[in-house]
Amino acid sequence: MSQRRLFVTTALPYANGHFHIGHIMEYIQADIWVRFQRMQGNEVRFVCADDAHGAPIMIAAEKAGVSPQDFVANIASGRKPYLDGFHIGFDNWHSTDAPENHELAQAIYTSLKSNDLIETRTIEQFFDPEKNMFLPDRFIKGECPKCGAKDQYGDNCEVCGAVYAPTELKNPFSALSGATPVLKTSEHFFFKLSDPRCIDFLKQWTNSGAVQPEVLNKITEWIEPGEDGKPKMGDWDISRDAPYFGIEIPDAPGKYFYVWLDAPVGYLASLKNLLNREGVDYEAFMADPATEQYHFIGKDIITFHTLFWPAMLHFSGRKVPNAVFVHGFLTINNGEKMSKSRGTGLDPLKYLKLDMNPEWLRYYLAAKLSGRNEDVDFTPDDFMLRVNADLVGKFVNIASRSAGFIAKRFDGKLGAISADGQALLGDLQAAAGSVTALYESREYGKALREVMALADKVNAYVDQNKPWELAKKEGQEARLHDVCSTCIEAFRLLTLYLKPVLPALAEQVEGFLQVNTMQFADAAKLLGNGHAIAPFKHLMQRVDIKQLEALFEPPAAPVEEKPLPGGEAIAETIKIDDFVKVDLRIAQIVNCEAVEGSTKLLRLTLDVGEGQTRNVFSGIASVYKPEELVGKLTVMVANLAPRKMKFGVSEGMVLAASHADEKAEPGIFILNPWLGAKPGMRVS
Ligand code: 2FM
Ligand code: ZN
Repeated sequence: MSQRRLFVTTALPYANGHFHIGHIMEYIQADIWVRFQRMQGNEVRFVCADDAHGAPIMIAAEKAGVSPQDFVANIASGRKPYLDGFHIGFDNWHSTDAPENHELAQAIYTSLKSNDLIETRTIEQFFDPEKNMFLPDRFIKGECPKCGAKDQYGDNCEVCGAVYAPTELKNPFSALSGATPVLKTSEHFFFKLSDPRCIDFLKQWTNSGAVQPEVLNKITEWIEPGEDGKPKMGDWDISRDAPYFGIEIPDAPGKYFYVWLDAPVGYLASLKNLLNREGVDYEAFMADPATEQYHFIGKDIITFHTLFWPAMLHFSGRKVPNAVFVHGFLTINNGEKMSKSRGTGLDPLKYLKLDMNPEWLRYYLAAKLSGRNEDVDFTPDDFMLRVNADLVGKFVNIASRSAGFIAKRFDGKLGAISADGQALLGDLQAAAGSVTALYESREYGKALREVMALADKVNAYVDQNKPWELAKKEGQEARLHDVCSTCIEAFRLLTLYLKPVLPALAEQVEGFLQVNTMQFADAAKLLGNGHAIAPFKHLMQRVDIKQLEALFEPPAAPVEEKPLPGGEAIAETIKIDDFVKVDLRIAQIVNCEAVEGSTKLLRLTLDVGEGQTRNVFSGIASVYKPEELVGKLTVMVANLAPRKMKFGVSEGMVLAASHADEKAEPGIFILNPWLGAKPGMRVS
């Protein structure tokens, strides 16, 4: 059989948050397929990367007070425990902000342009005059044009569900600065996807077997004529104006690629980076018609991957994906709304910290996954049942019930197998073809059901022959050896079939059986009479209900025994009239310096929007350096009577948090408002 050469990816996660269980499910689905392909003797490059660009990440970085590069690097540095923890074996993890991606995205764009598929148009868009930037829809808020609900996003209303353009909002404001946005024109670049060449190509590609039938159904309206005789596909706006964290458009100063243009290019960039390290020529690898390209994605990003991305590749003269594999969403408890506080979500890192076996989750998800785009549901009871009854009860136990006798009674060596055992093993071996076909088509649930049906047969054989009784009877030595050898051979075949799903367990079994790394072709062979195995070591625990309870338990209260909040009892109740007497204002620290003769105080110069600054002394010198505070916003009591101090007059007080018992909980923390607050704004 000639070896296939595969290039496999999963969707690139946005670098603005840690993985959630949905990411992990996708990676496990793809990882199983990759391991299966390798067990078939195929060559696989399996890559991913952080999706680094775009306005939300740029804004999140600004909020955090770091550069977008540092922000993304920080998220990237947290990826490894999840991937290693769930035995997800990417060959490379890269970033869409890496040089390879800048080059490739620009090269693809340049080819599209020379193919006459790029055009510019002037569009009108909301602009934030304070932030000096065009506002993405998500950062424009206002009142719903249909129902009048306040504080709705620029694209749809969460109250009445209406969908509209941001320009339709009543009393719009920028979510970044609070300013009223103004309409401004700008030149944008469009990828002419409505060009008949694109439509023709996409009709052909989507019907070539590259997408699942249910996915084809969903996208067909984009490329097939609708009631008005035209497909829905319009041209795609691929540019954004500075400031933007992204890749510059060649020969267009101040213009950047929209994040979704360069994101999928990141697949190629990550591959190129990997091949470069391996000393393999990227261009030759991708030019080879034998190279197969596959993308695993979720159902929320179908159009990008089955329409825009293949068109980008094809019209820039590149290989197109052989297939895009779409999966559904993972729900917990039949889609019960996930809520952190009620603890119904499944936190992958918490799962690992509770010492739950990652291969339980791999097995469970595999048992529920199919090759179709359909949702998968995790329920704790079902999880426990499948792992304990099937994985441990039916499979792992076969080894634990027979290995001891081989070690104790037969010097660790397998013996001759008689006709009934041979017949059983023959049935197991004959399943290799259908099991591999099911893995290939990502029908993991069916594959595991078939393997468990085989395990049932083996268990029936064990129950018929009762090795524990044979062991007690005189003259049954040979039969005991025969039965236990059959069980060990069967156990090897079952492990082999489960190995893509349970790589760590399979590795342990390889050690125990003293065999080389198992490949699917090994299903045709048996260990044989005289083969020595190592002493059996326990392979896998059962799930303990307590672990599941802990997993879904809401985060524990941070402290026990109800201590006083912050070390002090809450002050006596006041009326709102009392509160409003205190005039709290947003203040900008325009200058800050040490106070000569004091180790405690810093002198702050504050702008409270009054057209003149104020001088305030604050006892925070032990925790802040003056230069750390300059430019920052904070909250001050603006109507406190001026106080004459040793070093001058203090005209107010800035707010800071601290514990009553400084030794128990050291630190002083200056308050800092969310982005968008302005000096002088009242805090209430
Ligand atoms: O939806 C998302 O999470 C995107 N970051 C996926 C990008 S996939 C590819 F195009 F990079
Ligand atoms: Zn509404």
